[in-house]
Amino acid sequence: MRALVTTGEGGLTLATVDPPRPAPGEAVVAVTAAGLNRGDLTVAGALPAGARVGWDIAGVVEVAADGGPPVGTRVTGLAGRDGFAERVAIPAAHLAVLPDTVPDTAGAALPVAGLTALYALRHAGWLLGRTVLVTGAGGGVGRVAVQLAAAAGARVLAQVGAKGRGDGLAKLGAAGVGRYGDEVTEPVHVLLDSVGGDALTAAWRAVAADGVVVSYGNTTRAPLALPLDWGRPRPGVSLRHLYLFQETQRQPVGPDLTTLVGLVAQGRLDPQVAVTAPWTDLAPVWAALRDRQVNGKAVLTL
Ligand SMILES: NC(=O)c1ccc[n+]([C@@H]2O[C@H](COP(=O)([O-])OP(=O)(O)OC[C@H]3O[C@@H](n4cnc5c(N)ncnc54)[C@H](OP(=O)(O)O)[C@@H]3O)[C@@H](O)[C@H]2O)c1
Repeated sequence: MRALVTTGEGGLTLATVDPPRPAPGEAVVAVTAAGLNRGDLTVAGALPAGARVGWDIAGVVEVAADGGPPVGTRVTGLAGRDGFAERVAIPAAHLAVLPDTVPDTAGAALPVAGLTALYALRHAGWLLGRTVLVTGAGGGVGRVAVQLAAAAGARVLAQVGAKGRGDGLAKLGAAGVGRYGDEVTEPVHVLLDSVGGDALTAAWRAVAADGVVVSYGNTTRAPLALPLDWGRPRPGVSLRHLYLFQETQRQPVGPDLTTLVGLVAQGRLDPQVAVTAPWTDLAPVWAALRDRQVNGKAVLTL
């Protein structure tokens, strides 16, 4: 079968690989759509040629796992970094059934971005009546985080890097859309940061007493620098880290993915698929994601 593998030079290319051999508890899914994440760019830049990639998939169950969705069921799932392929074996516990109303492309956009946003907000705790500041709000995770926080009753402030990157965020529930480094003049109870560097340093200044800062990324790859007065003016402040692939060791993600799919089906969550392309024409969409041109998710179709 065919799969996308690393080129060893920061890209991906199609290659012939062995078909999956499902372990007990795993289903084989015939992949129809695959969601790209910034993490795929990172992995492709770090691994030697020929490595398998890809976490986000949607498709049809071809071989069922005991207790999992039956053959022929449309599903989305979180693969173990081998999902960009015609077929992939995935633990049934990491799958969610897609209803007819949710297209494969929307399903494939959900696992990494949706689960990361969901777990980051869970780390933050109670959101009703709280003010949540989301940096990197124009990206895949950010756009879901804005929607989930607003749906949970938070007042959501979004920050982006450039004009146009925040397009649509107000409609998704952001009460305000600003730029990194903007002074935030109201107390922030929850800061969700994936940008790091100066954006995090500046946003931290708005965090209130007992505030929770959840760091789930460092897209700028700059050292974490907190303001000198990071703690005393905001007693009880906490800094938490979220890494999705540690969460998946602690719990199967199928139930939470099912929740996200349900919100999409109800029209309460839009996974923000901004661009789709056949996987045989990956290069332009790969470059667009790398160059911060995708306002949401990029999804490949197979
Ligand atoms: N901890 C985890 O388990 C986990 C899971 C998923 C993602 N992540 C990380 O979280 C971050 C966001 O992921 P994503 O999938 O949402 O990515 P994405 O869709 O590419 O979004 C990245 C966001 O970062 C902003 N950004 C700021 N500085 C940037 C820079 N120097 N280069 C590129 N983008 C920059 C971009 O918006 P502007 O152009 O408006 O600045 C964009 O909104 C990434 O760092 C990713 O690796 C971590």
